[in-house]
Amino acid sequence: MEILNKIQRYREEERRLTWEGTFADYLEIIKKNPQVAQTAHSRVYNMIKDAGIEEVNGKKEYKFFSDQIYGLEESIERLVEEYFHSAAKRLDVRKRVLLLMGPVSGGKSTLVTMLKRGLEQYSRTDNGAVYAIKGCPMHEDPLHLIPHHLREDFYEEYGIRVEGNLSPLNMMRLEKEYGGRIEDVIVERIFFSEDKRTGIGTFSPSDPKSQDIADLTGSIDFSTIAEYGSESDPRAYRFDGELNKANRGLMEFQEMLKCDEKFLWHLLSLTQEGNFKAGRFALISADEMIVAHTNEAEYKSFIANKKNEALHSRIIVMPVPYNLRVSEEERIYQKMIKDSDMGHVHIAPHALRVAAIFTILTRLKESKKQGVDIVKKMRLYDGENVEGFNGQDLEELRNEFQDEGMNGIDPRYVINRISSAIIRKEVTSINALDVLRSIKEGLDQHASISKEDRERYLNFISIARKEYDDIAKKEVQKAFVYSYEESAKTLMDNYLDNVEAYCNKNKLRDPLTGEEMNPDEKLMRSIEEQIGISENAKKAFREEILIRISAYARKGKKFDYNSHERLREAIQKKLFADLKDVVKITTSTKTPDESQLKKVNEVIARLIDEYGYNSVSANELLRYVGSLLNR
Ligand SMILES: Nc1ncnc2c1ncn2[C@@H]1O[C@H](COP(=O)(O)OP(=O)(O)O)[C@@H](O)[C@H]1O
Ligand SMILES: [Mg+2]
Repeated sequence: MEILNKIQRYREEERRLTWEGTFADYLEIIKKNPQVAQTAHSRVYNMIKDAGIEEVNGKKEYKFFSDQIYGLEESIERLVEEYFHSAAKRLDVRKRVLLLMGPVSGGKSTLVTMLKRGLEQYSRTDNGAVYAIKGCPMHEDPLHLIPHHLREDFYEEYGIRVEGNLSPLNMMRLEKEYGGRIEDVIVERIFFSEDKRTGIGTFSPSDPKSQDIADLTGSIDFSTIAEYGSESDPRAYRFDGELNKANRGLMEFQEMLKCDEKFLWHLLSLTQEGNFKAGRFALISADEMIVAHTNEAEYKSFIANKKNEALHSRIIVMPVPYNLRVSEEERIYQKMIKDSDMGHVHIAPHALRVAAIFTILTRLKESKKQGVDIVKKMRLYDGENVEGFNGQDLEELRNEFQDEGMNGIDPRYVINRISSAIIRKEVTSINALDVLRSIKEGLDQHASISKEDRERYLNFISIARKEYDDIAKKEVQKAFVYSYEESAKTLMDNYLDNVEAYCNKNKLRDPLTGEEMNPDEKLMRSIEEQIGISENAKKAFREEILIRISAYARKGKKFDYNSHERLREAIQKKLFADLKDVVKITTSTKTPDESQLKKVNEVIARLIDEYGYNSVSANELLRYVGSLLNR
């Protein structure tokens, strides 16, 4: 019954937050907390700010977005700073429609939905509270009641700038219901809710011929004209268009560029002048943020059309490209799977990663920079250390193309392919190979992929497959060692002791007997040979490692077995070389003897307990690696 308790608590909370009073009472409230009287744009920004902004490596991370949007940090920073923040300061961008431009399924709708749901919550907090003239269908800002000639005085006293005119309906009500006494007008606290059409709206164009502008700006209510006597009586008008309802908050404009021009002009007048025309009335003031979204092709054809020229300067375009980082892409899939009905399916470790490798490759542009192939670029983008490249190289790569991430495979495609792999397989367990196979089959059915792209994509599938082969081999070999990390560390420490003694022309001391010994040349070479270091190059390699260690020491950083990529590779290969035959024989014999069987069971248990497999996927992995090693 937990849920019923929660529902009840929510209701009680709502009652507690309810407030109603006169305009005079309202002035008391804003005297104490002027933020309450902020503009819609400022409210959006403060909502994001109040959720927390953290600086990570000189980049801003906005908590508001970070638990649902992954890998778009730069686009979000730009969106928040260049639009939301500037608009909150009443800079000129506020007067433009915000247009999110990006490829399909790149998170645009998700972003807008977060803003909407966020505002609904925020309007229930102290800092995000919103008040309106009671009984107004547009929840008009009570400060509009202050006559223009007194607004300068009001600013002196309260420090708040008032924009906009009192709407015709409230003008009439002020006279008829309150006898012109502004201070008596009843004000109430409102709570944004898209369902209740308060402060949040969505407009989506239908057939351009049948769509009525009334959907945006409201319409005359013919049934009441007789009662009020005239079409120009505001009481005979229904202020129930999307622009009316979204006043004070946010309106999402779907498919904006598909819309008829006459709709766009209303929007532009609203953003530009803060008002729009409805029926036979003077202009109606409204304060709301308008967010639209579109894809690149649509935007380009909009721009190319001369007829739209005047509109360009009134739109601010913010790119929302695809995420370009493998690990973040993996998180996107995890989230989408959790939200889908596949939540119960066992997805073997690395399956999503391998899919993500494929996807990111389709989105990257081949760099012209020396020595950077697309796989290295992918790793660098994902924050991995790639020997021979540093942070500056990464910056240069990022700046090489302005429009990277505007095409490629979208996350929904991958999720659909995973879902068909699941249907196909009948067991509720799928692995990386199942996913890659399904992605590949999907490419053949995908009508919108050009022949060239298909070739490229097939190549990326084999790259992803190779990555997986490496991962799979390492995983199994690791699982064969009782404690992989420890063995690797011991071997490396041993190697480093010897290297140090070798370079300093010292002796080592045997830990047991205390006897002095020469550095163990055979051990050092057996490791170095794993990565092809020749007899002639060994001295330079050993010295380089010592230099790296002292550089680490100087910076107070701990040198461990991940600190030098080639050394790590050498250690790993050495460990695996010692193991290879055992793994090979154990994983591939058709008739294992008792001790082999025991080993296999041990490894499977370890894969399940420590590496996240289930028994189906662990057995599949062993069989696959067995076949790889016997090739
Ligand atoms: N960068 C991202 N971070 C988190 N989820 C994402 C991201 N990109 C896409 N998605 C997910 O992909 C799906 C499609 O996104 P959506 O917002 O509908 O895209 P768009 O409106 O751009 O076509 C959603 O489930 C969304 O959560
Ligand atoms: Mg969308």
